[in-house]
Amino acid sequence: MKALEGIKILDFTHVQSGPTCTQLLAWLGADVIKVERPGIGDITRGQLVDIPDVDSLYFTMLNSNKRSITLDTKNETGKEILIRLIKSCDVLVENFAPGALDRMGFPWERIQELNPRMIYASVKGFGPGPYEDCKVYENVAQCTGGAASTTGFDDGPPLVTGAQIGDSGTGLNLAFGIVAALFQRVTSGRGQRVQAAMQDGVLNLARVKLRDQQRLAHGPLTEYPVNTDVDETPRAGNASGGGQPGWAVRTKGGGPNDYIYVIIQPPGWAYYMELCGRPELIDDPEWSTPAARLPKLDECFKIIEEWTLTKTKLEVMDILNARDIPCGPILSMKEIANEPALRNTGTVVEVDHPTRGKYLTVGMPVKLSDSEAKVQSSPLLGEHTEEILLDVLGLSKEEVNAAWKSGALGEPAAKAID
Ligand code: COA
Repeated sequence: MKALEGIKILDFTHVQSGPTCTQLLAWLGADVIKVERPGIGDITRGQLVDIPDVDSLYFTMLNSNKRSITLDTKNETGKEILIRLIKSCDVLVENFAPGALDRMGFPWERIQELNPRMIYASVKGFGPGPYEDCKVYENVAQCTGGAASTTGFDDGPPLVTGAQIGDSGTGLNLAFGIVAALFQRVTSGRGQRVQAAMQDGVLNLARVKLRDQQRLAHGPLTEYPVNTDVDETPRAGNASGGGQPGWAVRTKGGGPNDYIYVIIQPPGWAYYMELCGRPELIDDPEWSTPAARLPKLDECFKIIEEWTLTKTKLEVMDILNARDIPCGPILSMKEIANEPALRNTGTVVEVDHPTRGKYLTVGMPVKLSDSEAKVQSSPLLGEHTEEILLDVLGLSKEEVNAAWKSGALGEPAAKAID
């Protein structure tokens, strides 16, 4: 038995943010029924295609363990089927452009009327306010949520990060909200509206930068490389966001990822200086305290880099961790894909897809001892259309055939089942 077994999710999500959420719920055991436009489906099926006529990795890595039904929700029969789906499911998740579900004829009030236990969960770019009607993609959220203005080097432009904090980060928030609403429904008996805005999600993850904005009122941010004459949280390059100074220094090899992130905590200073062949700096009052080092952190990291350049990043990791000194080798995606420990824990998994063959994807990032998440393939477009109509909605074969004829399920309009 899995954590969310028995929960049916009506999944109207597309692209990345919403599918991240419903994929997590599917891994937790929910029956996720992905509703897709006949003939088209989730737009990402055909984006960044690497193998012709095969669902893209973009899609397969966000939609595992789900079932797919094709349904035209603007067709009259399609609407009737959607009403039955709303009555049969526990949660409806969507991340359409603002107002799209209302335009389909299904505002929250109607959904509540049809199924008072329904939890209706949405991702939008912005919460209520001047931008609430705007469409939003990942990098828009990174920029409007405060992450981009605080990422990058002080003498360069704002930068977005490769981690999809706007899309996948907000999908995580939504999943958490849904699970909480399901828990509350046990006692209240009622569904509720769950809304997650991408701007809010990014800002929540960038809270230390909002902290620093307020600290500016009381003096310079001394741990930042540039900290005078600024009235907005500046970009900090690779400087640590916490109280412990850190930087990415080069290591042996000279490749683009031959770097390691080192952190100078007060107890580690003496060991670093031993390793670097500079024991005289251990007790030198010009260097021995965090306050003395603060104005010359770049010199400190230069001394450390002279040593790290003589070792590979993994050798440095072993040496420092032997003394409980945290550090982070910069791992490339190639290295991560081949890392046996991540395969062993199911964080990176190999899945077999009916038309693609084997491919790598990410597994559940949270491990539950009593609800193992086994990653399966993503569905083909409309793969489970009839199965869902027959088993979930209890339609008769005649009703399914009539639905095909109406065009609600897509082409061929006159497909008949035995
Ligand atoms: N049957 C019939 N129509 C369907 C359908 C179905 N099964 N599924 C979707 N549609 C329709 C919708 O009703 C909508 O029609 P409308 O514009 O007439 O109301 C249309 O398809 C397209 O939806 P939309 O969400 O506007 O897609 P888009 O490609 O133009 O915009 C986003 C994409 C991501 C920008 C937009 O959905 C958005 O801003 N979403 C919220 C924020 C978000 O999640 N962004 C992150 C994406 S990773």
